[in-house]
Amino acid sequence: MTKKIILDCDPGIDDALAIVYAAGSAELELLGITTVAGNVSLDQTTSNALRVCEFIGAAVPVTPGCAAPLLRSPITAEHVHGADGLRGARLPPASRRPQPGHASDFIIETVLGAPGDITLIAIGPLTNIALALSREPRIAFEVQDFVIMGGSATRGNVTPAAEFNIACDPEAASIVFSAGWTVTMVGLDVTLRALADQEVLGRLGALGALADLLLVPCLGGYADDGIGPPAVHDLCAVAHVARPGLLGCQPARVEVETAGRWTSGMTVTDFRASPAEGNALVATTIDVPAFWDAVLEVYGPLAGSLNG
Ligand code: RIB
Ligand code: CA
Repeated sequence: MTKKIILDCDPGIDDALAIVYAAGSAELELLGITTVAGNVSLDQTTSNALRVCEFIGAAVPVTPGCAAPLLRSPITAEHVHGADGLRGARLPPASRRPQPGHASDFIIETVLGAPGDITLIAIGPLTNIALALSREPRIAFEVQDFVIMGGSATRGNVTPAAEFNIACDPEAASIVFSAGWTVTMVGLDVTLRALADQEVLGRLGALGALADLLLVPCLGGYADDGIGPPAVHDLCAVAHVARPGLLGCQPARVEVETAGRWTSGMTVTDFRASPAEGNALVATTIDVPAFWDAVLEVYGPLAGSLNG
């Protein structure tokens, strides 16, 4: 049974790899992509989503959303993803245009139009999701599931306490975790173990045009800390939706710090919470070899279609 998904993202290198997986997986039906400002500007994240979809032949609607966080000034990550957000990718400009309307409208209309059928995945700042919830709180109870790449039970990457997607818009994240649904939080605790090391790059490098024009140039220059092998954060969240056995998750209560001078954007995670207090399933383990096998199983046939 394929899962119908909406992917909210801020492409971004790892977002791009997640889009490829979402479009290529037989377990997923990618109904639409919504974009948000994050790694780079909204215009650039939207353009990048369109470029990637066009390159892989995915006729998926791309609807832009919020160009800035709810309250705060934007923070971006060009130093990690490059000025255009897809460092090194050799993809032509998209010929397709974004959809009219706002991402939050697309999310509300699609979820309410198929009650219980849609899995919403967010792999960028949560501004679009928070806006959609604020306008239509019912979506928290009408999705089949809601999964994010973001946060962490143990550390940050923008600060010692905060992970980028949460740090960008803590107020939005607080709204999201308080909406009444269960948030599956795929955070740094597992994504920092999904490293595209030399062995992985060797496997990806054999995929022809998909590798030559996107995967290898992007991964070659991408690393959170600028030195180690790159962690493909967002790909973990999408692969988890397609194959839930890849990650192990624990129930918890997650509160988002919005006021701390040193801890703003921290996802304060309490694994001792009772079921009644719980609002999250927090990923704590990942089967790394099985994860990369799943990625190659999805990328291989898609790459073959590109190589003609
Ligand atoms: O901290 C990693 C997250 O921030 C990923 O989603 C990456 O794309 C950036 O948005
Ligand atoms: Ca992202």
